[in-house]
Amino acid sequence: MKVITSVILKGMKKISSIYNCNVIGLQKIFNRAGNLTPVQCNLNIPFDIKRVYYLYDVPGGEIRGGHAHYELEQLIVAASGSFDVVIDDGINKRTINLNRPNFGLYVTPGIWRDLVNFSSGAVLLVLASMPYSELDYIRNYDDFLNYKNG
Ligand code: TYD
Repeated sequence: MKVITSVILKGMKKISSIYNCNVIGLQKIFNRAGNLTPVQCNLNIPFDIKRVYYLYDVPGGEIRGGHAHYELEQLIVAASGSFDVVIDDGINKRTINLNRPNFGLYVTPGIWRDLVNFSSGAVLLVLASMPYSELDYIRNYDDFLNYKNG
């Protein structure tokens, strides 16, 4: 189902909605000596992982994100600590609190995101569908609205 949603979205990035972004529950392999969460392409998430990056040492009160992507799909995970992801499709906004390493927020292309309310020591892990390309960013909110409405 998630794979089908992703395929449909490939032709619908401009009209992608925050309601296509969902929190995905990942496997948690319990062990007395610590828990483990595996993530596999096209099993747990609807895209191939081409890049992994993580955000850490975020000072209290700082805001990250503040952009959208034309093509990029992402799974955002609170590998440690917590933060809020504010997603915005140009019409509706939703705030999702991430605070467990076995849950990830799937973000489709064409969604503005702000990353706020980082707890001390939070680690924001991103599994991404494409290599880094500045050309894939929309960094100006008015440009984003023009793209969505144009
Ligand atoms: P950015 O994506 O704006 O960070 P965030 O959304 O977390 O606020 O990236 C910040 C800087 O890091 C920017 O100069 C681009 C650079 N960057 C890379 O070089 N490679 C990457 O994979 C990413 C995600 C960012």
